[in-house]
Amino acid sequence: MEDKTRAMATSDDAIGIFDSGVGGLTVLHALLEALPQEDLVYLGDTGRYPYGTKSAETVTRYSIENVDFLIAKGIKLLVVACNTASSVALGALAVRYPVPVVGVIEPGARAAAARTRNGRVGVIGTEATIASGAYTTALRAVKPGLEIYTRPCPLLVALAEEGWVEGPIPQSVVETYLATLQKSGIDTLVLGCTHYPLLKPVIGGVMGDSAEETARAVAELLAARGLARGRGPGSTSFFVTDVPDRFIRIGQRFLGARLESAVRLER
Ligand code: DGL
Repeated sequence: MEDKTRAMATSDDAIGIFDSGVGGLTVLHALLEALPQEDLVYLGDTGRYPYGTKSAETVTRYSIENVDFLIAKGIKLLVVACNTASSVALGALAVRYPVPVVGVIEPGARAAAARTRNGRVGVIGTEATIASGAYTTALRAVKPGLEIYTRPCPLLVALAEEGWVEGPIPQSVVETYLATLQKSGIDTLVLGCTHYPLLKPVIGGVMGDSAEETARAVAELLAARGLARGRGPGSTSFFVTDVPDRFIRIGQRFLGARLESAVRLER
């Protein structure tokens, strides 16, 4: 069945992307920049956000339901644009579905491993991402000798959604979270959560941003499989699992562009 469906995927099919809500729009932004000719279908599981505080089992179940929806749209490739879902569900998704699956962990780990000079890398993410150890595994797979220091930073998600990304309050929250990592002498920090790039002004320093690296991985994979769409411009459609108002309002900041509308899924 796998080969048959793969054979049926064509370069004109869309790329499917999902996240727990607005966060994956930072990845979508990078995909739009890198692959403007592609059609993109984005699903934000806003009805069940956040994923970062939930168990691996629950996030995997949600992820499967999200991908069932995207697969029914006839996608040629899946992007798991959520660090938490990529950390805990990528393996389950990759064996379950007949399309290539790209997560955000491995590209982010590759970028950080290439960037560090002293071999000490920090990783910040949601509680579930850090607890999974997925970044540590991915970083060690690229460079076994790395020293890796991790820290869950759950408040940063709320700050990013609230738009509190500059000034004394986020500054002090970030300093408190990062103090121990900085004492460890890290020279590179992996922003292991979709929301953290918005806080770059207060995080500062050398950072690995997995969104751009993920878009590059998608472009390479499409080219290698002969699935890149030759002509454009592509279209983007948005789906959510709760009323779309908040997704549209907050999502524009994550996308860095106007978000006209999103369709609510009835489940
Ligand atoms: N998108 C999630 C991530 O990158 C952050 C938000 C959430 O907890 O659902 O881990």
